[in-house]
Amino acid sequence: MQVSMTVNGQQRTDEVEPRMLLAHHLRDNLGLTATNIGCDSTSCGACTVIVDGLTVKSCTVLALQAEGSEVTTLEGLSTDGEMHPVQAAFRSEHGLQCGFCTSGMVMASIGVLADNPNPTDREVREGLEGNLCRCTGYHNIVQAVLKAAEAGPAAGQVPSSQQEVSA
Ligand code: FES
Ligand code: FES
Repeated sequence: MQVSMTVNGQQRTDEVEPRMLLAHHLRDNLGLTATNIGCDSTSCGACTVIVDGLTVKSCTVLALQAEGSEVTTLEGLSTDGEMHPVQAAFRSEHGLQCGFCTSGMVMASIGVLADNPNPTDREVREGLEGNLCRCTGYHNIVQAVLKAAEAGPAAGQVPSSQQEVSA
């Protein structure tokens, strides 16, 4: 079957099997491998992307369900070579170790900051409770989100769609 969606600002139409997950479509058909798959069962958040302004675990959504949607992945966050404020904060605060969870953490963090531009430490932890990290102990990830909040509203927005984002 054909599915059409806007991915990182580009219109895409592709053939997919009806059972194909959005995560596999992004990775295997579109080559957007920043979206990782850690569990395939909605548990880890490594596959988090933004669909029509909502953070979504893309292993939980069929590609066909994203028909007509605006999808943003990690690859769509930078603008003119400049990192998104959340990416920059993960870098400056060293919010990662192996990096496997990082793409999903960054996307989920944008959703957290869209809903709450000035979160507390606890609110960041609660906002990211659907995303698991096996390496960092979470401290630097939380610090990165708090640092990103200093950038203001841009930290809770995605450039490709100019949409408001919610967790
Ligand atoms: S791969 Fe989607 S939640 Fe783990
Ligand atoms: S940095 Fe390794 S899983 Fe999070």
